[in-house]
Amino acid sequence: MTEPLAPTLDDLAAAGAAPAVVEAAPRERRDGAQRLAARLGGIAYGGDYNPEQWPEEVWHEDVRLMRAAGVNLVTVGVFSWARLQPSPHAWDLGWLDRVLDLLAEHGIAVDLATATASPPPWLARRHPETLPVMADGTTLWPGGRQHFCPSSAAFREAATTVARAVAERYADHPALALWHVGNEYGCHVNACWCDRCAVAFRHWLAHRYGDLEALNAAWGTDFWSQRYHAWDEVLPPRTVPAIPNPTQQLDHRRFASDALLSCYLAERAILDAVSPEVPVTTNAHPHLDAQDWHRFAAHVDVVSYDGYPDPADPQAHREAGVAADLMRGVGGEAPWLLLEQAPSAVNWRERNVMKPPGTMRRWSLQALARGADAIMFFQWRASKAGAEKFHSGMVGHAGTEGSRTWDEVAALGAELPRLTEVVGSRVEADVGIVCDWASWWALELPSRPTTLRWREQLAWLREPLDDAGLTSRFVAPGQSLDGVALLLVPNLYLCEERTARWLTAFVAGGGVLVVGLFSGVVDANDHVHLGGYPAPLREVLGVRVPEVDPLPEDASVAVAGPGDRAGHATLWREPIELHGAQALVTHQDGWLAGRPAATRHEHGAGVAYYLGAGLDAATTAAVLDQAAGDAGCVAPLEAPPEVEVVRRRAADGRSWLFALHHGEEPVALAVPAGVEDLLGHDVHDARLVLEAGDVAVLREPQAAGDAAKRRG
Ligand code: GAL
Repeated sequence: MTEPLAPTLDDLAAAGAAPAVVEAAPRERRDGAQRLAARLGGIAYGGDYNPEQWPEEVWHEDVRLMRAAGVNLVTVGVFSWARLQPSPHAWDLGWLDRVLDLLAEHGIAVDLATATASPPPWLARRHPETLPVMADGTTLWPGGRQHFCPSSAAFREAATTVARAVAERYADHPALALWHVGNEYGCHVNACWCDRCAVAFRHWLAHRYGDLEALNAAWGTDFWSQRYHAWDEVLPPRTVPAIPNPTQQLDHRRFASDALLSCYLAERAILDAVSPEVPVTTNAHPHLDAQDWHRFAAHVDVVSYDGYPDPADPQAHREAGVAADLMRGVGGEAPWLLLEQAPSAVNWRERNVMKPPGTMRRWSLQALARGADAIMFFQWRASKAGAEKFHSGMVGHAGTEGSRTWDEVAALGAELPRLTEVVGSRVEADVGIVCDWASWWALELPSRPTTLRWREQLAWLREPLDDAGLTSRFVAPGQSLDGVALLLVPNLYLCEERTARWLTAFVAGGGVLVVGLFSGVVDANDHVHLGGYPAPLREVLGVRVPEVDPLPEDASVAVAGPGDRAGHATLWREPIELHGAQALVTHQDGWLAGRPAATRHEHGAGVAYYLGAGLDAATTAAVLDQAAGDAGCVAPLEAPPEVEVVRRRAADGRSWLFALHHGEEPVALAVPAGVEDLLGHDVHDARLVLEAGDVAVLREPQAAGDAAKRRG
């Protein structure tokens, strides 16, 4: 039998599809934040600026107010494609010339967008195939934004044309400080199921598997008679009568992420050629599972992120902390940019509450504490028309007078220069957390023993450490674990053998590992590792799990331990067998009474913990407390859980403690002798009183900081 032919680049071109294979070498220059800071001389402060929505006379008021608010950087042109290019062969860049000139005259730098986030209506009219199609065949039409198929060759061509026009026109403009490619790739449309995507998906699969036989093996197509005999039988996982093939779905997530990345890379290649000295970013968004941000971050000069914690959620700062740590982590711990946040309310929740007084400041300083060197907003001036007119702006509908939002924006702009010395420093964190997008996606596919959400599994294990004041950073499987003493694996359902070897070596070398339930279950193709869970991790954890027992909703079972503490478990339990590990927490109820629920295993020079039940927060905290003790992790400062303390340290050893009070009552903190608060609080007798909602940034005397570093 002849080998069926895999799609070639010619087949893609004939189908109007662009390839999604990503072979680009990772970015070597990751110093975009450094270059931006050098250009601005401090922390970047500003927001999205959409002057095309306003008459020109307003622009003059804008720059005057920007100066008044301490703005030094604005993001321009994100949604201006339809203005810049009214038809395929007509250009109107004069207005943008005038905007950039005006900003330059007033000393305001620009994060200039390539303008490709929202294609103009004429593109869809001429090329309807640029529109994305959902799994059920629904086409997403123009009239909103982000209505493009990432595999459409016509879209790629049009996007690179406008990106080139902008790049060539403004490469040498004095206002230009940063390139902003697209906007929030995948925020609304992170995958497409159209015919062009089908061809590009096959091409991507051929690249991954080589031949159809390997694809059949990987997708397990002998199940339900799904075996493919020709490449053009292979489709993206469109709406089907039953549960779609899980590996097909997982590969489609991988492909879709790569397809968007390819759109980014196509534009970045132009910027690199036209203005190699200007750093390039693309802003990530709060749908953190939308793409593989490890792969995206490898191709930017500086990671940027748009954070929108919900002011109605009293725990919102935790989510913000996770996002900050994750974004810093994907960028290799280098400083990152908070490129958007709401000055106050957003417009897209059911109820859009304002940020209470002081919250915008505290959350901004939290981003700085966790490694950001930029505090930016969406947007400068609240729109008068359109879908986002009730989204807060730095300048609101009523102007500045009487606006608490404006007052807080201007006050923060005046305060940030006091923190200039922290720019470029790095966050100190000795807790690592493993994040792997393929595993995250695979865990959340349908047809699992129960519904498990990675973010919930993460919060479960991270919050007790957060409460204990320990700072974490995220790592990808296989990444260097230098400086990590305690490594959390909240859930790693999909665990390749090489990842298991990496985790095992970490423990053997003296590290402390904590692994959460239902980890180590499948390989990269979502095929089960046989012989008892968590197969590749059995040796390091010293346990074997022959089967799993998800609990019904609302069920709670009793557990005991560590020591004589009484607790309970919900969601999940397992009949853990001990193969070298010791039980730390033991089931008290039902058929598992007497069997371990959490274990500890000494392996080589280190220790590995396994939590095989949905333990309550206090029990989990007790287990993690022991693990942190084994690892020798020490909080940068003793403080109650509502006070978040993070240390940033410069390459030359200088260090700062950020203390952020998220609680309701004033607290008194014992601080190292000799610290000085850059934000002006008096520190008497090594005692600092922080009012509810307030923040201090303590410059540490070098010796104390160094001692703390040695302990860590
Ligand atoms: C972001 C987006 C902005 C704006 C903002 C509103 O996701 O990048 O353009 O829409 O949300 O919160």
